[in-house]
Amino acid sequence: MSGDLTLNKILGAGLATGLVIMGVSIGAESIYHREAPEKPGYLIEVAEAEEAGGAATVEVLPDWGTVLATADLAAGEAAFKKCASCHNAANGGPNSTGPNLWGLVGRPTASHAGFEYSEAMKAHAGEAPNWTYDQLYGFLGAPAKWVKGTKMAFAGIKKPEERIALIAYL
Ligand code: HEC
Repeated sequence: MSGDLTLNKILGAGLATGLVIMGVSIGAESIYHREAPEKPGYLIEVAEAEEAGGAATVEVLPDWGTVLATADLAAGEAAFKKCASCHNAANGGPNSTGPNLWGLVGRPTASHAGFEYSEAMKAHAGEAPNWTYDQLYGFLGAPAKWVKGTKMAFAGIKKPEERIALIAYL
């Protein structure tokens, strides 16, 4: 009699173990299945970024030699008010939400001491080592498209004249 009970316990334990293993493998499978579709989604995002970059480079760039000479610096200063909540532009001024922007034109991308740039901006420095006029023009028109994944939460300045004036001011 007691032998039967022991056998029952062994069988019971075996069954329980089997159920646990099945449960774990079903669980693992559902995690695996949930992860799988993320990859194609990510690939599509990359494709979009490339498209956006391609479209942006098609935009006609200003002839800087001409436009800077006649740029409206007062309008540029006024436009900088849109940036001032996150950026200080004084020589030796502090970083705040965004890095200090003094001496920005020609400055190496993602280089300001003491500022934690996003991975996106650091990667962008590999493609665009300096803030040239053209780079600033593209970035400030649509920051999140020009540097996909930037943590600069700013929609961009659509009007070319305003962007030019701002860049001249900077
Ligand atoms: C809401 C806050 C915010 C506003 C508004 C903002 N920025 Fe930024 N900016 C940031 C942050 C944050 C970064 C860092 C981005 C990163 O690391 O991805 C940044 C980065 C930059 C950079 C790159 C600097 C470098 O050292 O590589 C430039 C250039 C810049 N901003 C210019 C501007 C200008 C010009 C304006 C106004 C038209 C502006 N930003 C408005 C937050 C802001």
